[in-house]
Amino acid sequence: METKEFYDKTAEKYDSRHTNYMLSYMRKAEEELIKKYVFGKTLDIGCGTGHHLNLVNAIGLDVSLPMLNEAKNKNCTKLVQGSAEDLPFPDKSFDTILCIFTVLNLCDINKAVNEMKRVLKTDGRIIISVTSVWERGNKMLKKKLFRNPQPCRKKMRIEGFRLNFHAFTKEEFISLFRDFKKEYFKGIFIVQNPWWGWHREFSKWEKIKLRADKFQFLNSAARVYLAVFRKTQ
Ligand SMILES: C[S@@+](CC[C@H](N)C(=O)[O-])C[C@H]1O[C@@H](n2cnc3c(N)ncnc32)[C@H](O)[C@@H]1O
Repeated sequence: METKEFYDKTAEKYDSRHTNYMLSYMRKAEEELIKKYVFGKTLDIGCGTGHHLNLVNAIGLDVSLPMLNEAKNKNCTKLVQGSAEDLPFPDKSFDTILCIFTVLNLCDINKAVNEMKRVLKTDGRIIISVTSVWERGNKMLKKKLFRNPQPCRKKMRIEGFRLNFHAFTKEEFISLFRDFKKEYFKGIFIVQNPWWGWHREFSKWEKIKLRADKFQFLNSAARVYLAVFRKTQ
């Protein structure tokens, strides 16, 4: 499973790669939502290095042990290694589930969503974000503006790893939770210059370029869907 291998190998660098002004808007939006909607016993699926675990008193689950070790270094204690597609918890055991920042894009979607629904209590909430089909650069965006965008399955090539990646249309994402009540939905653009997903350290020159590109946000923008769904039955 190349996704796990990728995160195993790059866990130490994850935080430095994902702490930048390009992502700070998305992080702020996630945090506001978490503060407003989280209640009760909470599970963070694909918790990674524990970015959200210290905001709420959640159990963190991730497929990658090195990612969980990074979370441990931040004093997160309730950590479980496991897969989103086969959650090691009984039915209806959580009030809130977090699944943030591409976790669902990388999973076997139907299995993962069924598992989330299984372990969530009635009236519980799922706070979730996914990357949408709009995540490509300017040319692709222009093309899509004149066509009906379709869900996109692709191989995302990162540092020699080929990760299965599924980019969502809005309709497809919402329909995954059609039996839930939609409490919040927002599409946010984040700037991902120069190469979204290449996950490498930026050189000095690239950092300068990043700053210069700050305002040309359509150069390489991504749309992230951020949503809250409530289980009503
Ligand atoms: C982009 S990171 C997001 C981490 C964290 N949620 C955040 O917002 O920083 C994706 C995480 O999903 C985890 N992951 C990928 N596939 C998974 C699966 N099938 N089950 C559990 N975790 C998975 C990876 O190990 C990685 O830590």
